[in-house]
Amino acid sequence: MEATPGAKSPLAWLGGKSRLADRIIERMPEHLTYVEVFAGAAWVLFRKPPSKVEVINDINRDLVTLYRCVQHHLPELVSQFRWLLLARDEFDRFTATPTESLTDIQRSARFYYLMKTAFGAKLTGQTFGVAASGPPRLNLLRIEEDLSAAHLRLARVVIENRPYAEVLARLDKPTTLFYLDPPYWDCETVYGKGIFERADFAALARLLDKVKGKFILSLNDTPGVREVFANFKFEDIKTRYSVSANKNMPVGEVLIRNFN
Ligand SMILES: C[S@@+](CC[C@H](N)C(=O)[O-])C[C@H]1O[C@@H](n2cnc3c(N)ncnc32)[C@H](O)[C@@H]1O
Repeated sequence: MEATPGAKSPLAWLGGKSRLADRIIERMPEHLTYVEVFAGAAWVLFRKPPSKVEVINDINRDLVTLYRCVQHHLPELVSQFRWLLLARDEFDRFTATPTESLTDIQRSARFYYLMKTAFGAKLTGQTFGVAASGPPRLNLLRIEEDLSAAHLRLARVVIENRPYAEVLARLDKPTTLFYLDPPYWDCETVYGKGIFERADFAALARLLDKVKGKFILSLNDTPGVREVFANFKFEDIKTRYSVSANKNMPVGEVLIRNFN
């Protein structure tokens, strides 16, 4: 499969695979159904040509609500940005707004604004990011264009908000290709507490041992990862962190799969 040149996710995300997406797509075997189990900003989905059936899943409710609003309420979502400014005061106002009082569309606008303006695309303990080295990630003049592109790509994608094990069980067929990008080893809690733990790697390996479909799993290269997933094929791959603070740090990643 070939990546779509220039296609991109509307989001920056901790552990986002913007730099690895093309290499993952090149390695994709034939399939009918494509399932991204730990979608995050779904860089791989946004870059790949559409498959017959496509599903993205993430446990993060705000993220999934944003994708659903992009899919079903694009004009209403875009209109939320009409009078906004790119400013620390606006950032602080959004941070202080209790989310329970918001509609899904307001909640998604808040989430998108904060994710695009927070330093290092962090999910927790966000601070307003200003860098002398480059323009801000949020371009208010391009919001409609960026979200419209995402809307078109997501039009026929099923968006799920379930724990990974459920998605694997429900969508496993010989014609399914799973792409799995869980939290890195040693960074299990960066996406929130109680959603993924060290023991989940072994649980995931047990599930993957039994799948009828094919899978590609990306992780950081650590002895623990090599041991837990030893039953599968490993390929070493070099990339760079996509979080701005560590942009220039090369890291070892592995692609793990159950097919040649
Ligand atoms: C490394 S990120 C995925 C990055 C993505 N590939 C990209 O390009 O942006 C891992 C994602 O897994 C999600 N996640 C963590 N625990 C999960 C669970 N138990 N079930 C489903 N998703 C989970 C997190 O919310 C996070 O978005």
